[in-house]
Amino acid sequence: MKKLLMMLLALCLCAGMVAGCGGGDKKAAAPQKALKVGTEPTFAPFEFQKKDSKDFDGFDMDLIRAIGQKMNAKVEIQNMGFDALIPALNAGNIDIAIAGMSITPERQKAIDFSEPYYKSGLVVVVNKDNTTTKSIADLKGKKIAVQIGTTGADKAGKVEGAKVTAFNTNAEVFLELKNKGVDAVIIDSPVAAYYLVQGGKDSAKIVGDVMEAESYGIAFKKGSKLTAEANKALADLHKSGEYDKLYQKWFGNAAKAK
Ligand code: ARG
Repeated sequence: MKKLLMMLLALCLCAGMVAGCGGGDKKAAAPQKALKVGTEPTFAPFEFQKKDSKDFDGFDMDLIRAIGQKMNAKVEIQNMGFDALIPALNAGNIDIAIAGMSITPERQKAIDFSEPYYKSGLVVVVNKDNTTTKSIADLKGKKIAVQIGTTGADKAGKVEGAKVTAFNTNAEVFLELKNKGVDAVIIDSPVAAYYLVQGGKDSAKIVGDVMEAESYGIAFKKGSKLTAEANKALADLHKSGEYDKLYQKWFGNAAKAK
């Protein structure tokens, strides 16, 4: 009888331990911190919102979720104006900004960037029936639409005599071109290429060469410890081939179509 009791007790203990261990395991695997991520989602294929669900989708969104996973953190993405991202980082309202943001010396004064994760550049987009604009040199004195606070806006600002209109979203930028409110748009080359592939080519085209070698970086508040953690995660994703898979997923076809 005593033996039986002992055996039962041992069994209970074992079961308890297994359950305990299981519970413990689950705890360890659960995301520990939440990372507040800001983006401006009118920049497909890097970030956009799905038509029905409004879920954030795109290369940057996949990338930051994969980085979050490596950092054992829950990624919470929020939508904001592109020109609001750096102030939001500095104010501590968000921890990370990922928005196809080009690493520039000017921005590096205000924030820290991760290692570059994508090589980009700028292009001029005009309406298909425009036969006089062959490159940026032909935009002197012309009307140009850009997104506010972008490197495209900076570039347009340097075109002699040009009348530059800055919009909050790229949806408005492309619409303004389509409606012939402007002669041209200056925007990142992969975004222009994607826009054309997605139907824009019926009314618009890219002219001239890719200008400005720019690299995108993930942005953090100056001195943030997250920068090193994210760099480590990014390096791991490169090593494991996950980065290449994402690149293929989002740029495999767009690259061919250009
Ligand atoms: N690469 C350009 C820049 O850094 C444009 C980025 C716009 N990004 C966006 N999510 N709207 O200025």
